[in-house]
Amino acid sequence: MAITTKKTPVIKLRDLKKRFGIGDAETYALNGVDLTINNGEFVAIMGPSGCGKTTLLNIVGLLDHAYFGEYDLDGKPVDSIPRRRQAFLRSKQIGYIFQNFNLVPRLNIIENVALPLTYSGVPKIKGLIIASDILKIFHLNEREYYMPHQLSGGQTQRVAIARALVNKPTIILADEPTGNLDSRSSHIIMEELSQLHKDGNTIILVTHNPNLTTYASRVITMLDGKIDTDSKPEKPSQKTTKVKKPKKKLVAKTRRRKK
Ligand SMILES: Nc1ncnc2c1ncn2[C@@H]1O[C@H](COP(=O)(O)OP(=O)(O)OP(=O)(O)O)[C@@H](O)[C@H]1O
Ligand SMILES: [Mg+2]
Repeated sequence: MAITTKKTPVIKLRDLKKRFGIGDAETYALNGVDLTINNGEFVAIMGPSGCGKTTLLNIVGLLDHAYFGEYDLDGKPVDSIPRRRQAFLRSKQIGYIFQNFNLVPRLNIIENVALPLTYSGVPKIKGLIIASDILKIFHLNEREYYMPHQLSGGQTQRVAIARALVNKPTIILADEPTGNLDSRSSHIIMEELSQLHKDGNTIILVTHNPNLTTYASRVITMLDGKIDTDSKPEKPSQKTTKVKKPKKKLVAKTRRRKK
């Protein structure tokens, strides 16, 4: 992981607009977003359903290129980066935990988790070993050879999270990552995100749960496709509920791995 304590803008958005539909059906999902996120920040994004959170994450995650405005990633205009290079950056640098999981239905669980490693050139067997390791951390090792449709919603969510983190990305985009999880599983995920943040990675967490913003260093609210408020969390790093600590630390384990 590229860890540096120097604060530099990793994501810079200027007057970002995203339009869906045409004519009478035209709506702006994003309507002029100006946002700079420095490396190492843990940003929580909140806001009512439909205000543009997922749309924003899709653009930041290099999945959606059809927008107006400017987006610089690591100081480089994304427009100037060839698509193939963007795909490479996405697989190496960005871990995306999707709101709707996005597992590949025809691949089993371990193959799904190993997928980002395949994209970044890790040999297949090595990728499966790494995927198996990470699945253990999320208590899913007994489900490695299940197909996605055979898992519960919460299990599917944990697989999606394991897949997003398997490549040790430096930017983690998490769209409601704990939405389907019980409180203990939520705590495991939030502690892992918190540890990744402490290690210097940049986290953007979309959540409807105000309690989870206490993990963040900055809280942004969106309204009608715009940034509404941008502030420090009210009670920084204070967990109000005492939950049993997870046995293993994902980060400690993944950082031991040499690529
Ligand atoms: N593919 C699409 N076609 C047309 N409209 C879309 C599309 N995707 C999103 N929208 C619209 O854009 C707006 C923003 O959607 P988005 O998914 O970003 O909201 P959100 O803040 O993530 O909401 P939620 O909290 O419910 O996930 C909504 O009004 C939505 O209907
Ligand atoms: Mg959404």
